Amino acid sequence: MKTLLTLHDRKLDLYRFPKRANETLQAWDAGDEYLINHMTEASLPIGQNILILNDSFGALSCWFSEQHNVTMMSDSFISHKATLKNLQRNQCSKIQFLNCLDDIPSNINLVLMQLPKNNRLLTWQLSKLRSSIPADCRIIGVNKAKEIHTSTLDLFEKHLGITTTSLAWKKHRLVFSNANCESILPVAAECEWPVDGEEIVLSNYANVYSGENLDLGARFMLNHLPQIEDLRHIIDLGCGNGILAIKAGQLNPQARITCIDESFMAVASAKKNLERNLGAERNIQVLANNCLDGMKQNSSFLVICNPPFHQQNAITDHIAWQMFCDAKDTLNHDGKLLVVGNRHLDYHIKLERLFGDSQVSIVAENSKFMIIEAIKNNDLNKG
Ligand SMILES: C[S@@+](CC[C@H](N)C(=O)[O-])C[C@H]1O[C@@H](n2cnc3c(N)ncnc32)[C@H](O)[C@@H]1O
Repeated sequence: MKTLLTLHDRKLDLYRFPKRANETLQAWDAGDEYLINHMTEASLPIGQNILILNDSFGALSCWFSEQHNVTMMSDSFISHKATLKNLQRNQCSKIQFLNCLDDIPSNINLVLMQLPKNNRLLTWQLSKLRSSIPADCRIIGVNKAKEIHTSTLDLFEKHLGITTTSLAWKKHRLVFSNANCESILPVAAECEWPVDGEEIVLSNYANVYSGENLDLGARFMLNHLPQIEDLRHIIDLGCGNGILAIKAGQLNPQARITCIDESFMAVASAKKNLERNLGAERNIQVLANNCLDGMKQNSSFLVICNPPFHQQNAITDHIAWQMFCDAKDTLNHDGKLLVVGNRHLDYHIKLERLFGDSQVSIVAENSKFMIIEAIKNNDLNKG
Protein backbone atom coordinates (compact mmCIF):
# COMPACT_ATOMS: atom_id res chain seq x y z
CA MET A 1 0.00 0.00 0.00
CA LYS A 2 1.30 3.42 -1.02
CA THR A 3 2.09 5.79 1.87
CA LEU A 4 4.09 8.45 0.03
CA LEU A 5 2.05 11.28 -1.49
CA THR A 6 4.36 12.89 -4.07
CA LEU A 7 3.13 16.10 -5.70
CA HIS A 8 4.79 19.30 -6.98
CA ASP A 9 8.28 18.21 -5.79
CA ARG A 10 6.97 17.61 -2.29
CA LYS A 11 6.59 14.34 -0.40
CA LEU A 12 4.32 13.50 2.49
CA ASP A 13 4.40 10.18 4.33
CA LEU A 14 0.78 9.49 5.27
CA TYR A 15 -0.89 6.70 7.24
CA ARG A 16 -4.40 5.95 8.38
CA PHE A 17 -5.10 5.70 12.09
CA PRO A 18 -4.68 3.38 13.81
CA LYS A 19 -1.60 2.34 11.83
CA ARG A 20 -1.90 -1.35 10.88
CA ALA A 21 0.85 -3.73 9.80
CA ASN A 22 -0.99 -5.08 6.75
CA GLU A 23 -2.92 -1.95 5.80
CA THR A 24 -4.50 -2.12 2.36
CA LEU A 25 -6.20 1.28 2.40
CA GLN A 26 -4.44 4.53 1.44
CA ALA A 27 -4.59 7.61 3.69
CA TRP A 28 -5.60 10.04 0.92
CA ASP A 29 -7.63 9.96 -2.29
CA ALA A 30 -7.70 11.57 -5.72
CA GLY A 31 -10.03 14.25 -4.31
CA ASP A 32 -7.24 15.44 -1.97
CA GLU A 33 -4.84 15.50 -4.93
CA TYR A 34 -7.33 17.42 -7.07
CA LEU A 35 -7.75 20.11 -4.38
CA ILE A 36 -3.97 20.39 -3.89
CA ASN A 37 -3.36 20.65 -7.66
CA HIS A 38 -6.11 23.22 -8.07
CA MET A 39 -4.81 25.44 -5.25
CA THR A 40 -1.23 25.12 -6.52
CA GLU A 41 -2.31 26.32 -9.98
CA ALA A 42 -4.27 29.15 -8.34
CA SER A 43 -0.97 30.42 -6.76
CA LEU A 44 -2.52 31.07 -3.39
CA PRO A 45 -0.76 33.90 -1.48
CA ILE A 46 1.11 32.66 1.62
CA GLY A 47 -0.44 33.01 5.08
CA GLN A 48 -4.13 32.35 4.34
CA ASN A 49 -6.46 31.31 7.18
CA ILE A 50 -7.75 28.05 5.74
CA LEU A 51 -10.61 26.02 7.18
CA ILE A 52 -10.37 22.35 6.13
CA LEU A 53 -13.59 20.42 6.64
CA ASN A 54 -13.73 16.62 6.90
CA ASP A 55 -10.06 15.91 6.18
CA SER A 56 -10.05 12.11 6.38
CA PHE A 57 -6.55 11.32 7.64
CA GLY A 58 -4.87 14.72 7.45
CA ALA A 59 -3.45 14.84 3.89
CA LEU A 60 -4.92 18.31 3.27
CA SER A 61 -4.00 19.64 6.71
CA CYS A 62 -0.40 18.45 6.29
CA TRP A 63 -0.14 19.91 2.80
CA PHE A 64 -1.56 23.35 3.50
CA SER A 65 0.01 23.81 6.96
CA GLU A 66 3.37 24.39 5.27
CA GLN A 67 2.43 27.92 4.14
CA HIS A 68 -0.91 28.70 5.78
CA ASN A 69 -2.76 28.83 9.11
CA VAL A 70 -4.89 25.73 9.06
CA THR A 71 -7.98 24.96 11.12
CA MET A 72 -9.14 21.38 10.67
CA MET A 73 -12.77 20.65 11.53
CA SER A 74 -14.04 17.10 11.60
CA ASP A 75 -16.59 15.02 13.50
CA SER A 76 -14.23 12.06 13.62
CA PHE A 77 -11.93 11.32 16.56
CA ILE A 78 -10.01 8.97 14.23
CA SER A 79 -9.49 11.79 11.69
CA HIS A 80 -8.23 14.09 14.45
CA LYS A 81 -5.78 11.43 15.66
CA ALA A 82 -4.64 10.51 12.14
CA THR A 83 -4.11 14.16 11.24
CA LEU A 84 -2.10 14.83 14.40
CA LYS A 85 0.11 11.77 13.80
CA ASN A 86 0.65 12.64 10.13
CA LEU A 87 1.51 16.26 11.01
CA GLN A 88 4.12 15.00 13.51
CA ARG A 89 5.45 12.33 11.13
CA ASN A 90 6.06 14.97 8.44
CA GLN A 91 7.30 17.71 10.80
CA CYS A 92 4.48 20.02 9.71
CA SER A 93 3.47 23.22 11.48
CA LYS A 94 0.86 23.12 14.23
CA ILE A 95 -2.79 23.53 13.27
CA GLN A 96 -6.02 24.14 15.18
CA PHE A 97 -8.39 21.18 15.70
CA LEU A 98 -12.17 21.66 15.96
CA ASN A 99 -15.13 19.33 15.91
CA CYS A 100 -18.31 20.07 13.96
CA LEU A 101 -20.22 21.40 16.98
CA ASP A 102 -17.55 24.08 17.56
CA ASP A 103 -17.93 27.59 16.17
CA ILE A 104 -16.19 28.41 12.88
CA PRO A 105 -13.42 30.98 13.53
CA SER A 106 -14.28 34.48 12.29
CA ASN A 107 -11.03 35.08 10.35
CA ILE A 108 -11.28 32.32 7.69
CA ASN A 109 -10.52 33.38 4.09
CA LEU A 110 -10.59 30.01 2.28
CA VAL A 111 -12.59 26.83 2.95
CA LEU A 112 -11.55 23.44 1.54
CA MET A 113 -13.98 20.64 2.04
CA GLN A 114 -14.18 16.91 1.47
CA LEU A 115 -17.95 16.57 1.02
CA PRO A 116 -19.37 14.27 3.69
CA LYS A 117 -21.37 11.20 2.73
CA ASN A 118 -24.17 12.18 5.06
CA ASN A 119 -26.46 14.92 3.65
CA ARG A 120 -27.61 16.00 7.11
CA LEU A 121 -24.00 16.77 8.05
CA LEU A 122 -23.44 18.52 4.70
CA THR A 123 -26.52 20.71 5.26
CA TRP A 124 -25.40 21.51 8.82
CA GLN A 125 -21.91 22.46 7.64
CA LEU A 126 -23.16 24.60 4.72
CA SER A 127 -25.54 26.46 6.97
CA LYS A 128 -22.78 27.06 9.56
CA LEU A 129 -20.50 28.36 6.80
CA ARG A 130 -23.22 30.69 5.52
CA SER A 131 -23.66 32.25 8.94
CA SER A 132 -19.94 32.40 9.85
CA ILE A 133 -17.82 33.41 6.87
CA PRO A 134 -17.84 36.48 4.63
CA ALA A 135 -19.47 36.39 1.19
CA ASP A 136 -16.12 36.86 -0.61
CA CYS A 137 -14.52 33.80 1.04
CA ARG A 138 -14.15 30.97 -1.48
CA ILE A 139 -15.44 27.52 -0.59
CA ILE A 140 -14.08 24.65 -2.65
CA GLY A 141 -15.47 21.19 -2.08
CA VAL A 142 -14.47 17.88 -3.62
CA ASN A 143 -16.01 14.46 -4.00
CA LYS A 144 -16.29 11.55 -6.40
CA ALA A 145 -18.20 12.86 -9.44
CA LYS A 146 -20.79 10.09 -9.05
CA GLU A 147 -21.54 11.28 -5.49
CA ILE A 148 -22.21 14.88 -6.57
CA HIS A 149 -25.89 14.82 -7.52
CA THR A 150 -28.14 17.67 -8.61
CA SER A 151 -29.61 17.42 -5.09
CA THR A 152 -26.11 17.99 -3.62
CA LEU A 153 -25.67 21.17 -5.64
CA ASP A 154 -29.21 22.24 -4.71
CA LEU A 155 -28.18 22.02 -1.04
CA PHE A 156 -25.18 24.25 -1.77
CA GLU A 157 -27.36 26.81 -3.57
CA LYS A 158 -30.06 26.74 -0.91
CA HIS A 159 -27.91 26.93 2.22
CA LEU A 160 -24.73 28.63 0.99
CA GLY A 161 -24.85 30.51 -2.31
CA ILE A 162 -24.03 30.50 -6.02
CA THR A 163 -22.40 27.18 -6.91
CA THR A 164 -20.55 25.81 -9.94
CA THR A 165 -18.53 22.64 -10.58
CA SER A 166 -15.27 21.75 -12.36
CA LEU A 167 -14.61 19.14 -14.99
CA ALA A 168 -13.97 15.67 -13.63
CA TRP A 169 -10.37 14.58 -12.93
CA LYS A 170 -9.60 11.00 -11.85
CA LYS A 171 -13.37 10.56 -11.36
CA HIS A 172 -13.56 13.51 -8.91
CA ARG A 173 -15.12 16.93 -9.31
CA LEU A 174 -14.63 20.23 -7.49
CA VAL A 175 -17.56 22.30 -6.27
CA PHE A 176 -17.06 26.09 -6.09
CA SER A 177 -19.29 28.25 -3.94
CA ASN A 178 -19.53 31.42 -1.85
CA ALA A 179 -21.57 32.16 1.26
CA ASN A 180 -23.85 34.64 -0.49
CA CYS A 181 -27.38 33.23 -0.72
CA GLU A 182 -30.04 35.76 0.19
CA SER A 183 -31.17 34.49 3.57
CA ILE A 184 -29.76 32.13 6.17
CA LEU A 185 -32.17 29.21 6.36
CA PRO A 186 -32.48 27.77 9.85
CA VAL A 187 -31.20 24.19 10.16
CA ALA A 188 -32.08 22.32 13.34
CA ALA A 189 -28.98 21.05 15.12
CA GLU A 190 -30.77 17.95 16.38
CA CYS A 191 -33.45 15.56 15.22
CA GLU A 192 -35.59 14.17 18.04
CA TRP A 193 -37.96 11.19 18.09
CA PRO A 194 -39.48 8.71 20.54
CA VAL A 195 -38.53 5.05 20.18
CA ASP A 196 -41.64 2.98 19.35
CA GLY A 197 -42.67 0.67 22.15
CA GLU A 198 -40.02 2.01 24.59
CA GLU A 199 -39.91 4.71 27.25
CA ILE A 200 -37.07 6.38 25.37
CA VAL A 201 -36.73 9.67 23.48
CA LEU A 202 -33.62 10.20 21.34
CA SER A 203 -32.06 13.40 20.14
CA ASN A 204 -29.50 13.20 17.35
CA TYR A 205 -26.93 15.68 16.04
CA ALA A 206 -26.40 15.69 12.27
CA ASN A 207 -23.71 13.02 11.95
CA VAL A 208 -25.11 10.46 14.38
CA TYR A 209 -25.48 7.02 12.84
CA SER A 210 -29.14 6.30 12.07
CA GLY A 211 -30.01 9.72 13.46
CA GLU A 212 -33.45 9.96 11.85
CA ASN A 213 -34.82 6.53 12.75
CA LEU A 214 -33.81 3.51 14.77
CA ASP A 215 -31.28 1.14 13.19
CA LEU A 216 -32.94 -2.25 12.54
CA GLY A 217 -30.07 -4.14 14.18
CA ALA A 218 -30.41 -1.97 17.29
CA ARG A 219 -34.19 -2.52 17.26
CA PHE A 220 -33.62 -6.32 17.30
CA MET A 221 -31.01 -6.03 20.06
CA LEU A 222 -33.42 -4.08 22.32
CA ASN A 223 -35.41 -7.28 22.90
CA HIS A 224 -32.37 -9.31 23.88
CA LEU A 225 -30.40 -7.15 26.28
CA PRO A 226 -29.83 -8.98 29.57
CA GLN A 227 -31.07 -8.13 33.04
CA ILE A 228 -28.46 -9.27 35.56
CA GLU A 229 -28.93 -8.59 39.27
CA ASP A 230 -25.31 -7.98 40.21
CA LEU A 231 -24.16 -6.40 36.93
CA ARG A 232 -21.85 -3.55 37.91
CA HIS A 233 -20.57 -2.05 34.66
CA ILE A 234 -21.83 -1.93 31.06
CA ILE A 235 -19.87 -0.65 28.06
CA ASP A 236 -21.73 0.38 24.88
CA LEU A 237 -19.01 0.23 22.23
CA GLY A 238 -19.85 2.34 19.14
CA CYS A 239 -22.79 3.85 21.05
CA GLY A 240 -24.19 6.21 18.36
CA ASN A 241 -27.13 8.00 20.04
CA GLY A 242 -26.82 5.70 23.07
CA ILE A 243 -29.94 3.63 22.39
CA LEU A 244 -28.47 0.28 23.52
CA ALA A 245 -26.88 1.77 26.65
CA ILE A 246 -30.16 3.44 27.63
CA LYS A 247 -32.17 0.24 27.36
CA ALA A 248 -29.45 -1.78 29.13
CA GLY A 249 -29.36 0.95 31.81
CA GLN A 250 -33.14 0.76 32.29
CA LEU A 251 -32.95 -3.02 32.69
CA ASN A 252 -29.99 -2.82 35.08
CA PRO A 253 -30.51 0.28 37.23
CA GLN A 254 -27.59 -0.60 39.54
CA ALA A 255 -24.99 -0.68 36.73
CA ARG A 256 -22.49 2.03 35.89
CA ILE A 257 -22.41 2.82 32.14
CA THR A 258 -19.61 3.76 29.76
CA CYS A 259 -20.47 4.81 26.18
CA ILE A 260 -17.82 5.13 23.50
CA ASP A 261 -17.93 6.39 19.93
CA GLU A 262 -15.47 7.92 17.49
CA SER A 263 -18.01 10.56 16.33
CA PHE A 264 -18.01 13.69 18.49
CA MET A 265 -21.64 14.30 17.53
CA ALA A 266 -22.57 10.77 18.64
CA VAL A 267 -20.81 11.36 21.95
CA ALA A 268 -22.64 14.67 22.49
CA SER A 269 -26.01 13.08 21.58
CA ALA A 270 -25.46 9.97 23.70
CA LYS A 271 -24.50 12.08 26.71
CA LYS A 272 -27.72 14.12 26.42
CA ASN A 273 -29.84 11.03 25.76
CA LEU A 274 -28.47 9.02 28.67
CA GLU A 275 -28.97 11.93 31.07
CA ARG A 276 -32.48 12.56 29.78
CA ASN A 277 -33.66 8.94 29.77
CA LEU A 278 -31.78 7.53 32.78
CA GLY A 279 -31.56 10.64 34.98
CA ALA A 280 -28.71 13.08 35.57
CA GLU A 281 -27.78 11.37 38.85
CA ARG A 282 -26.93 8.09 37.09
CA ASN A 283 -23.24 7.07 36.99
CA ILE A 284 -22.41 7.46 33.28
CA GLN A 285 -19.34 8.27 31.26
CA VAL A 286 -19.46 9.10 27.52
CA LEU A 287 -16.17 9.28 25.63
CA ALA A 288 -14.78 9.89 22.15
CA ASN A 289 -12.25 7.15 21.53
CA ASN A 290 -10.95 4.64 19.02
CA CYS A 291 -12.66 1.45 20.21
CA LEU A 292 -11.44 0.75 23.77
CA ASP A 293 -7.96 2.28 23.45
CA GLY A 294 -6.45 2.87 26.88
CA MET A 295 -9.30 1.20 28.83
CA LYS A 296 -8.40 -0.89 31.86
CA GLN A 297 -8.10 -4.62 31.18
CA ASN A 298 -10.31 -7.10 33.06
CA SER A 299 -12.56 -4.30 34.27
CA SER A 300 -15.96 -4.84 32.70
CA PHE A 301 -18.84 -7.32 32.95
CA LEU A 302 -20.84 -6.62 29.82
CA VAL A 303 -19.89 -5.03 26.49
CA ILE A 304 -22.74 -4.42 24.02
CA CYS A 305 -21.87 -3.63 20.43
CA ASN A 306 -23.53 -2.93 17.09
CA PRO A 307 -20.27 -2.61 15.10
CA PRO A 308 -19.64 -0.35 12.10
CA PHE A 309 -18.82 -1.90 8.76
CA HIS A 310 -17.06 1.02 7.12
CA GLN A 311 -14.33 3.58 7.84
CA GLN A 312 -14.91 6.87 6.02
CA ASN A 313 -15.96 5.64 2.56
CA ALA A 314 -14.29 2.22 2.68
CA ILE A 315 -16.26 -0.91 3.56
CA THR A 316 -14.15 -2.85 6.02
CA ASP A 317 -14.55 -5.25 8.93
CA HIS A 318 -11.30 -4.31 10.63
CA ILE A 319 -13.01 -1.96 13.11
CA ALA A 320 -15.44 -4.70 14.15
CA TRP A 321 -12.44 -7.01 14.67
CA GLN A 322 -10.64 -4.39 16.74
CA MET A 323 -13.80 -3.83 18.80
CA PHE A 324 -14.05 -7.58 19.51
CA CYS A 325 -10.35 -7.83 20.48
CA ASP A 326 -10.58 -4.75 22.72
CA ALA A 327 -13.81 -6.01 24.32
CA LYS A 328 -12.14 -9.31 25.14
CA ASP A 329 -9.22 -7.51 26.82
CA THR A 330 -11.55 -5.25 28.80
CA LEU A 331 -13.87 -8.00 30.03
CA ASN A 332 -13.46 -9.82 33.34
CA HIS A 333 -13.33 -13.57 33.55
CA ASP A 334 -16.92 -14.67 32.71
CA GLY A 335 -17.68 -11.20 31.31
CA LYS A 336 -19.91 -11.13 28.25
CA LEU A 337 -19.72 -9.47 24.82
CA LEU A 338 -23.09 -9.16 23.08
CA VAL A 339 -22.92 -8.30 19.37
CA VAL A 340 -25.63 -7.63 16.79
CA GLY A 341 -24.80 -7.81 13.11
CA ASN A 342 -26.10 -8.60 9.65
CA ARG A 343 -26.15 -12.37 9.13
CA HIS A 344 -23.87 -12.20 6.08
CA LEU A 345 -21.08 -10.60 8.14
CA ASP A 346 -20.49 -13.91 9.96
CA TYR A 347 -19.40 -12.24 13.19
CA HIS A 348 -19.86 -15.53 15.07
CA ILE A 349 -16.91 -17.03 13.16
CA LYS A 350 -14.67 -14.14 14.18
CA LEU A 351 -15.85 -14.38 17.78
CA GLU A 352 -15.23 -18.13 17.90
CA ARG A 353 -11.69 -17.56 16.68
CA LEU A 354 -11.14 -15.01 19.42
CA PHE A 355 -13.02 -16.40 22.43
CA GLY A 356 -12.95 -20.15 21.61
CA ASP A 357 -15.74 -22.20 19.97
CA SER A 358 -17.27 -23.30 23.26
CA GLN A 359 -17.58 -19.70 24.51
CA VAL A 360 -19.75 -18.37 21.66
CA SER A 361 -23.47 -18.85 21.10
CA ILE A 362 -26.23 -17.36 18.99
CA VAL A 363 -28.75 -15.70 21.30
CA ALA A 364 -31.33 -14.79 18.63
CA GLU A 365 -31.61 -14.52 14.86
CA ASN A 366 -34.08 -13.37 12.25
CA SER A 367 -33.93 -13.19 8.46
CA LYS A 368 -31.48 -10.25 8.56
CA PHE A 369 -29.64 -10.16 11.89
CA MET A 370 -27.91 -12.33 14.44
CA ILE A 371 -27.23 -11.57 18.08
CA ILE A 372 -24.15 -13.38 19.30
CA GLU A 373 -22.84 -13.78 22.83
CA ALA A 374 -19.17 -14.43 23.59
CA ILE A 375 -18.09 -15.20 27.16
CA LYS A 376 -14.53 -14.62 28.24
CA ASN A 377 -12.79 -17.52 29.92
CA ASN A 378 -9.37 -16.53 31.22
CA ASP A 379 -8.44 -20.22 31.72
CA LEU A 380 -8.73 -20.87 27.96
CA ASN A 381 -6.20 -18.15 27.22
CA LYS A 382 -3.45 -19.33 29.57
CA GLY A 383 -0.39 -20.55 27.75
C1 LIG B 1 -23.63 0.53 13.48
S1 LIG B 1 -23.36 2.01 14.40
C2 LIG B 1 -24.20 1.63 15.93
C3 LIG B 1 -24.71 2.83 16.67
C4 LIG B 1 -25.65 2.53 17.85
N1 LIG B 1 -24.99 1.70 18.83
C5 LIG B 1 -26.90 1.83 17.33
O1 LIG B 1 -27.04 0.63 17.60
O2 LIG B 1 -27.72 2.50 16.67
C6 LIG B 1 -21.64 1.89 14.80
C7 LIG B 1 -21.08 3.05 15.60
O3 LIG B 1 -19.67 2.83 15.78
C8 LIG B 1 -19.00 4.07 15.72
N2 LIG B 1 -17.58 3.82 15.40
C9 LIG B 1 -17.01 3.62 14.18
N3 LIG B 1 -15.69 3.42 14.29
C10 LIG B 1 -15.40 3.49 15.62
C11 LIG B 1 -14.20 3.37 16.37
N4 LIG B 1 -13.04 3.12 15.77
N5 LIG B 1 -14.25 3.51 17.71
C12 LIG B 1 -15.45 3.78 18.34
N6 LIG B 1 -16.62 3.90 17.66
C13 LIG B 1 -16.60 3.75 16.33
C14 LIG B 1 -19.77 4.83 14.65
O4 LIG B 1 -19.56 6.23 14.75
C15 LIG B 1 -21.21 4.41 14.91
O5 LIG B 1 -21.85 5.32 15.79
